[in-house]
Amino acid sequence: MCGIIGYKGNKDGNEVVLKGLHSLEYRGYDSWGIASVHENEIKIIKKVGQIGHIKLKDLGFPKSNLALGHTRWATHGGVSEINAHPHLSKNKKIVVVHNGIVENFQELRRFLEEQGFEFISETDSEIFPHLIEYFMEQKINFEGAVRRTLNKIEGSFAIVAINLESKEMVGARHGSPLVAGIGNGEFFLASDVPPFLAYTKKAVYLDDGELTIINKHIKFINIETGKEIKKQHQTIEWDVEQAKKGKYPHFMLKEINEQKDTIKLAAEQPPELIKKVTKMIEDARGVFFVGCGTSYHACVSAAYVFAKISKIHVNVVIASEFSEYEDFLTDKTLVVALSQSGETADLLEAIRTAKKHNCKTFSVVNVVGSSLTRLCDRNIMMNAGPEICVLSTKSYTSQLTILLLLAYSVAGKLGKAKELIDTVSKSVGEIIDTNLKKLKQLATKIKDATDFFLIGRGLAFPSALEGALKIKEISYIHAEGFAGAELKHGTIALIEDGVPVFVLSTPATRHLILSNAMEIKSRGGYIIGIDSEDNDVFDYFIKVPDVGNAEPILWIIPIQIFSYYIALARGCDPDKPRNLAKSVTVK
Ligand code: G6P
Repeated sequence: MCGIIGYKGNKDGNEVVLKGLHSLEYRGYDSWGIASVHENEIKIIKKVGQIGHIKLKDLGFPKSNLALGHTRWATHGGVSEINAHPHLSKNKKIVVVHNGIVENFQELRRFLEEQGFEFISETDSEIFPHLIEYFMEQKINFEGAVRRTLNKIEGSFAIVAINLESKEMVGARHGSPLVAGIGNGEFFLASDVPPFLAYTKKAVYLDDGELTIINKHIKFINIETGKEIKKQHQTIEWDVEQAKKGKYPHFMLKEINEQKDTIKLAAEQPPELIKKVTKMIEDARGVFFVGCGTSYHACVSAAYVFAKISKIHVNVVIASEFSEYEDFLTDKTLVVALSQSGETADLLEAIRTAKKHNCKTFSVVNVVGSSLTRLCDRNIMMNAGPEICVLSTKSYTSQLTILLLLAYSVAGKLGKAKELIDTVSKSVGEIIDTNLKKLKQLATKIKDATDFFLIGRGLAFPSALEGALKIKEISYIHAEGFAGAELKHGTIALIEDGVPVFVLSTPATRHLILSNAMEIKSRGGYIIGIDSEDNDVFDYFIKVPDVGNAEPILWIIPIQIFSYYIALARGCDPDKPRNLAKSVTVK
C-alpha cells in the first residue's frame, strides 16, 4: 500500500506533488519522498514520518515541471530514509516510485548485482530503476525498457517512472491502482483522484497490464504487446472540497458528521439496478458475501438481515479466506464484494477466484472507477464521497443501508426499506449532536482502560464486532466484540472491577442481553448501554431510537464518536492510526 504521484506540466511539480502526497497519506505514512527533475539532475528528498506539515520551502528545490512522490506503508525493508521512495538507477537518470510487491525480487536482485548494479536500499522496489537502466543500456528506448522491466516482474505494481534525459514520465499498473489526470497541457498520475481534483476532473483509470507514457501528449499501451490502446476518460464528480477537512479538526469527525446525509444518499439507487441485483440474488444457488475489516463486518450484518428480512441464507467469508471455498463455486453462485476503496488486494483476489469459476458478481463500493468496479458484473455505488480517515465510518453505514435495501427488495418490500432508511437518516443528526459532548466526557473518564468488550445479540452482534474494531484501531486499547451469550464461555474471566463493556440492546433481544449485562455487572464490569430505553443495569446510557431492522445503522454511530474522543484523550491521531493504511493493496 503506499500512495504514488507524478506530475508533468507547466506548474511547479514540487508543489503539485507535495500537496498530492498530503491527500494520499491515508494510503500509508511511515515515510515519504519526492523527486524533482531538473535540466541535468534529479533532486531527491526522503524523510521518515508523516509528510504532515512539510511546506514547499522545506523541500529546498528550485521549481520544476516534472516531479514524482511517494508516501510509504512499509512491506519489504524497515522504515528508514534509505528505504523510502523514490529510488534512483545506478546512473541516477531513472527515478521510480512503486506501490505493490515484487515477489521475484530476490532473483531479480541477484541478476542485477551480477550485472554490476549496487542496491542501496533493502526494498523490492529498487529493482525497477536498475532494471530499466539495464535495458536502456542495450539501446532500448525508455518506454521499451519499462515494458521489458514490467514483463519480468512477478507480483503487483503501480509505478511512476521518469527519465531525466528524455523528460518522459511513465505510469503502469498490475494489481495496484493508478489513474491518470488529464488537464490543460498538464498530466497527473496518482494512486487515487484527490491529488489532482483541484486541477482537473478528467481521469483515465489504467487497467492491469497497461502503461501510459507522457511526453507532450499522453498515450496508453499494453505492457505485454506494446500496442497502443484507446482509452476513454471519465469525469470525476467528487468535489475538491469534499476531500478537505473544512471546519473539522479531523477527517474522522467530518466523516462521522457526514452520515447525516450519506445514509440517505446510499439509498438513492437507480431502480433498474436494484431490480437487476435483486434478481441476481433470487436466481443464485449459493450466495457469498466477502469483504475485509469493516467491510467484512458489514458482510456479517448481511447474513443477519438477509436471514431475517429476505428469509434466505447467505455465506459470509473474510475475503482472504475465500479460496478455501472454491469447491463450492459454480456459474450459479453469486459473490457479493463489499468495499469502500474497491482496491483491497485480498478482496480483488477473491473476486478473481469467483470469476475463475464463472460465478456472478456484484459489488457495493464507494470509489468510482476502482479496480473492483471493473472486475464485477454490476456495481452499487455508495455515493458517500471521499472517505479520507483511515477508519471506515460513513462507508460502513452506507454499506448497511444498501444491504437493508437489497434484503427488503428480495422480500418484495422495497417501500418498507425506504421508509426505515428515511426514519433512520432523520435520527442520525440528533444522535450525533446530542452525543458529541457526552461521549467526549465518557471517553476522557475511561481513557485508561486496558480492555473493552462489546456484546450484542442478533442484528447487534456485527455492530459489536465493528465497534470493537473502531476502538482498538484508533486508541490502541484491546477491544473485542461478542455475541451476547458467548462472552461467558471463557472471556468473562477477564471481567473485573471497572472493565468497560458496551451492551448493544434491542427490543427483540433485550430480555436476554440484559441478563448477559447483569452477569458482567456482577463481576464488576462497567456497563455502557446503547438502547432505545434506559435500564438499571446500565452504568451509562446512550439512547438510540427504536428503528427495527435498521438499528445496526444507528448503534455504530455513538461508538464511532466514542472512539474518536478516546483517541484524542490518549493523544492518538484519529485520522492516521499507527501501522494502518486505508487501502490495503497487498495480500
Ligand atoms: C483496511 C482499512 C480498514 C478497512 C479495510 C477494508 O484495513 O484500514 O478500515 O475496513 O481495509 O477496506 P475496503 O476499502 O475494502 O472496505
